[in-house]
Amino acid sequence: MNIDLSFKYKALIDHLNNEKPLEPDFALVLGSGLGGFANTVYVIKSFRTKDLPGYPESTVEGHSGIIHFAEYEKKKLLLFQGRIHFYEDYKLSECILPAFIANKLNCKIILLTNAAGGINRQFKPGDLMLADSFNGIEIKKELTELIGISSEKMHNDFINFPSTEINQIIRNSAVEERIDIKEGVYWYSKGPSYETPAEIEMMHRFGGDAVGMSTVPEAVFAASVGMKAASISCITNYAAGISKQKLTHDEVTETANRVEDKFSRLVRRIIISI
Ligand code: HPA
Repeated sequence: MNIDLSFKYKALIDHLNNEKPLEPDFALVLGSGLGGFANTVYVIKSFRTKDLPGYPESTVEGHSGIIHFAEYEKKKLLLFQGRIHFYEDYKLSECILPAFIANKLNCKIILLTNAAGGINRQFKPGDLMLADSFNGIEIKKELTELIGISSEKMHNDFINFPSTEINQIIRNSAVEERIDIKEGVYWYSKGPSYETPAEIEMMHRFGGDAVGMSTVPEAVFAASVGMKAASISCITNYAAGISKQKLTHDEVTETANRVEDKFSRLVRRIIISI
């Protein structure tokens, strides 16, 4: 089934187009516990997503659901604080909304950030990881249905994530800020629970470095409409089975909060460099 997203979200896009204080160039989706970044830039206007027509409400703690129009060093930004996850029983056509809105408001670049579990034994909580590829095998069918691969161009753009150009900018920005950034494969997990040790072992053997429950739907959608997309994960915990400790959402938000300063510094440098 091909869903007409422009029809589904017409009222929402019209509303934002009428109310927006600026034309954003760069969109940023802030992952679990990373929303504080919004306090480090100049916010011009904010919308609570629950006040926007047709916007699904997020139900996860730490995801407050706000869209900010902001500026930093003359760059015009669209920030999404709070996401919509597949594991909350939303449809994929809802999960991709930040990327859809960013595209409709003419942003050419989107940076997706997330909290993720570290599968790679070299990673520790607090590390940042740039995605150099992804594994979306769990939702390939749903994504294909949503996006509809009708032309050869879309066929190829579909997996045009991450953008090599933006990834290079991110690497350079990390060097300039003296931040050690890891690189690896982001493995999309549908949730709703964290993984079992056996699932993590499988992901490890198949090349996964970090696991999370977001980003891939938005990234693939953005790539399919020709936006440049990249992803930075905050490794908030050892993935299941790698340490003996039982995983909790609190651990995820606590680590993300701890890393926020380093994360915000890096993202601000990326914004300047783009
Ligand atoms: N698994 C899935 N998603 C996550 C994790 C994890 O270990 N940590 C943060 N988000």
